[in-house]
Amino acid sequence: MLVLGIETSCDETGIALYHTERGLLSHALYSQTEMHGEYGGVVPELASRDHIRRVLPLIRQTLTEAGLNLRDVNAISYTQGPGLAGALLVGASIAAALGFALNIPVLAIHHLEGHLLSPLLSTPAPTFPFVALLVSGGHTQLMEVKGLGLYKLLGETLDDAAGEAFDKTAKLLGLGYPGGPALSKLADEFSSSGQPSRFRFPRPMLHSGDLNFSFSGLKTAVLTLMNKHEITPQTRASIALAFQEAVVDVLTEKSLAALAKTGLTQLVVAGGVGANRQLRKSLCHNVEKIGATVFFPDLEFCTDNGAMIAFAGAMRLQVPAIRERKPDHSFTIKARWDLHVQPTSLDA
Ligand code: KG4
Ligand code: ZN
Repeated sequence: MLVLGIETSCDETGIALYHTERGLLSHALYSQTEMHGEYGGVVPELASRDHIRRVLPLIRQTLTEAGLNLRDVNAISYTQGPGLAGALLVGASIAAALGFALNIPVLAIHHLEGHLLSPLLSTPAPTFPFVALLVSGGHTQLMEVKGLGLYKLLGETLDDAAGEAFDKTAKLLGLGYPGGPALSKLADEFSSSGQPSRFRFPRPMLHSGDLNFSFSGLKTAVLTLMNKHEITPQTRASIALAFQEAVVDVLTEKSLAALAKTGLTQLVVAGGVGANRQLRKSLCHNVEKIGATVFFPDLEFCTDNGAMIAFAGAMRLQVPAIRERKPDHSFTIKARWDLHVQPTSLDA
């Protein structure tokens, strides 16, 4: 079966075609970051309007690249939430309209389920059950994943998400928006010059005894330090490195604790911060040391993309109760939506 996936939850329009037997056939992404960069953050109304402009041309592009046409599509999956309401509505309404016109099923996908399953697009792929570390701009969670739709929350951030902390700290350092990748690049360049950081930030909640996180204090620690020092390029890079080290340490330690708590031996990392090179290095090293395995999505599927939504749709279609459901072309979006409280029963 051929599934068309549509992702429009934030500032990236992602479209993909995934075939249940042939795998990922084509995918396309349009990132709005340059447009929002002028404002220092995502402007929701501009995001929705741009999704409207991009979504149909990108669908045409993915079909052309795969040598297929709309009539070949057997089902459509779209991101139902969480995300920006207006942006979500673009993907949801286009999915419903196309589904109605083609009289094919339309599947509503949780954005984080897409991220969570994205490492399954790579080879070697993990097998259920596994622990997932979801680290994006809006979420930082550890989940126990027993199967499709079977997600148990083990711990989460009590305030800022890891990506949000990267972005806010990058902004303090004058690195623009979205600053996560820029901060990480600065830190990596500094550390590859062989110098350790002059600074050390606290590791928030490292010894809290649970699997929760807190990152908002780190940003304050950075600000306090910046007020005490003259900000030379050297100091800025040293702060970036110390900040990255603190976040990577906490994410690594808590992931190891989640593996120990569940007794599972596979860790899956998903979401934009999963692209961070130091996090990848630290997790590979430390997870291997305890005889477990860590899986990452390909870099292009770490951040938001259509492939993960098409893939999640394809996986859901393998469930007979979902496949045999009568097509319903009404649609809703869920701007706020916890993954672990979505119906775990797949025939719900
Ligand atoms: O998963 P994602 O694309 O969008 C959400 O669902 O939030 O994640 C975006 C987040 C941003 O906060 C961005 O700064 C962060 O991921 N990010 C990174 C890196 N690449 C993206 N953070 C640290 N290091 C990176 N290399
Ligand atoms: Zn995301």
